[in-house]
Amino acid sequence: MAKYNPALGQAKLKTIHAVRFCRLTLPPNRASFRKPFAKTKMANAPELIEKIETHLREHLTPYRCTHVLSVRDQAMSLAKRHGINEDQAELAALLHDCLKELSNDDLLAFAARHRLEIDPHEQKNLSLLHGKVAPFYAKEEFGVNDEIVFDAMRKHTTGAVEMSSVAMVLFVADFCEPLRPYAEALTVRTLAERDLEIAALEVVQCKIRKSLVKHRTIHPDSFHAYNFMVEKRTGGSPS
Ligand SMILES: [Fe+2]
Ligand SMILES: [Fe+2]
Repeated sequence: MAKYNPALGQAKLKTIHAVRFCRLTLPPNRASFRKPFAKTKMANAPELIEKIETHLREHLTPYRCTHVLSVRDQAMSLAKRHGINEDQAELAALLHDCLKELSNDDLLAFAARHRLEIDPHEQKNLSLLHGKVAPFYAKEEFGVNDEIVFDAMRKHTTGAVEMSSVAMVLFVADFCEPLRPYAEALTVRTLAERDLEIAALEVVQCKIRKSLVKHRTIHPDSFHAYNFMVEKRTGGSPS
């Protein structure tokens, strides 16, 4: 069983993880999760993927773990379809929510330990930090050291103006993986089959719309991403 780095001083977190481990009901055979979009080549070391998957099963709730594995399948399918690096897409997808279930206190402690700047919106909604702190954990726990993967992980929640193709794949796949219960997921999945940028614009619009309806603040990165994507599509012409 992969452990949290003791140097991180996450005794409380270990307790949480130990409790979650007892609740796991997922089958241990990773092949069962890969059936819908099994890839034909395997450039990521199988041992690394196995280690990450085992870690996810042991440290996340079954609900979250299933979501992550579904995002991985969706991301790899989209990457393959659009000629984007499938291995980076796989790593980014597998690791994007690895710290999603940390408590706010643990997220803050993690961010502080890595001197991560927390913006005012993240201060008010600390769960937004899970994507920004995950790359540190991916490096410490799994030895992943790929800035493109890290960048995709950081931007998967809000989107951003500067998104690599891998970041866009993750942003879209996280929103539209087939287990998502909302109707927009199917719309985005369909759009993503033919145009990833249009799908990403639809995702950011959906997220902004949802925040507006719920009277929640909107992270500036989402606004900027929306403006950038719309201007790119319209050539910057005013509405
Ligand atoms: Fe997330
Ligand atoms: Fe996610």
